[in-house]
Amino acid sequence: MRIDILTLFPEAVRPMMDASILGRAAKKGLIEINCIQIRDFTDNKQQQVDDYPYGGGWGCVMMAQPLKACLDWVTEQAGPAKRRVIYMSPQGARFDQGHARRLVSEYDHLVLVCGHYEGVDERFIEKCCDEELSLGDFVLTGGEIPAMAIADSVCRMVPGVLSDPECYMGESHWDGLLEYPQYTRPETWEGLTVPEVLRQGVHKDIQAWRREQQLIRTQARRPDMFAAYAPRTAEEQLIVDRLTGREKLTYDCRPAAAEDVDDLAAIAAQASEYLRQCGVDQWQDGFPDRETLLEDVAAGGCWLFTHDGAAAGMICLYTRPEPDYDVIDGVWRTDGTAYATIHRAAVKAAYRGRGLADEMFQLCEDLALGRGYGSVRVDTHPDNRVMRRLLERRGYALCGQITLARSTESDRRRLGYEKVF
Ligand SMILES: C[S@@+](CC[C@H](N)C(=O)[O-])C[C@H]1O[C@@H](n2cnc3c(N)ncnc32)[C@H](O)[C@@H]1O
Repeated sequence: MRIDILTLFPEAVRPMMDASILGRAAKKGLIEINCIQIRDFTDNKQQQVDDYPYGGGWGCVMMAQPLKACLDWVTEQAGPAKRRVIYMSPQGARFDQGHARRLVSEYDHLVLVCGHYEGVDERFIEKCCDEELSLGDFVLTGGEIPAMAIADSVCRMVPGVLSDPECYMGESHWDGLLEYPQYTRPETWEGLTVPEVLRQGVHKDIQAWRREQQLIRTQARRPDMFAAYAPRTAEEQLIVDRLTGREKLTYDCRPAAAEDVDDLAAIAAQASEYLRQCGVDQWQDGFPDRETLLEDVAAGGCWLFTHDGAAAGMICLYTRPEPDYDVIDGVWRTDGTAYATIHRAAVKAAYRGRGLADEMFQLCEDLALGRGYGSVRVDTHPDNRVMRRLLERRGYALCGQITLARSTESDRRRLGYEKVF
């Protein structure tokens, strides 16, 4: 992994990147982190990098020219690579572990552009940057701290940087939960003793305790993450049910009719808002709109789930071939002659984590199997971790990446999954 940090303050960034684990990894040649002085690329004698904003206002804006010249130089130096140019910005998508995993798995060259002052000329961002990432909902004086944070979190997942992938795989945010509490010697410190289960050394009990602690901690500290977490095993489901005092509800289902379109649209709207809150760029373009939902109903494959008469969730099963699945960057599990497709799976907020999604998928799988289809295919956004976890738990295999034909979504990448009966 090569990372170039474009900055006006390389002297502030360099020591941090050379220290500790990253410094050692760079020495071993596992990673390369360069800090490039943007000022060296100005085309004026004074080496001026910023100027007053058009339209007036406070502060100065970094000019596009030095940034572009600096980027061109870095690109030429690095040569052909799976490259991503990222502008550090409080207006970008909020950076998290999912972004770090995506960056380390999809790219081998990251260019992190640090703004300063009032920011950078919008035209540079528009023309030269692939995405914008934010460290959080606050404003810093410059992009250096976010760039260091991103470089660090990405590099520690480069194979070999940490001694074992397990070092980062069990940690907070890896699978949607916070980590369990950790203890080291001495056994008793200031009257506080390490929990007995950890001292007994029974692996199975320790694993169970840690998982439970993860769930308890996540519920207490990050209710948003806890609400989004889909339990992976029956044991986890039991813990979640106990912690929430929520039991599975019973649902009725029926093929949706045209009169149900308001309910379907309300379910879709809640799902789209939920995806927005989770930072998933899916269903953010008004899709599925009423027209699409009415088409689903007319096609006869749309099912409405209710609880005590109230609309709770929807799902569509199509048995015609899905053109979006014709091309995949990967391999489907079957030859594509007899598959059914699930679309529009969505649950209202009040019914999340209460067994509804599983019931909806079960219905579609039973219907597909009953009608003689050999498999079911479905797609979801790469960042939709809740759906990905549900699919993986239900035995769907990740087959590769597809691209939606629908052009109104800003991010048309989707992951294709298939479950073979
Ligand atoms: C003072 S900020 C400019 C803020 C800009 N005027 C705005 O309101 O969106 C200067 C630079 O710091 C960086 N920066 C500030 N806050 C950041 C954050 N939360 N995440 C990532 N970068 C940030 C950006 O590179 C930005 O160009």
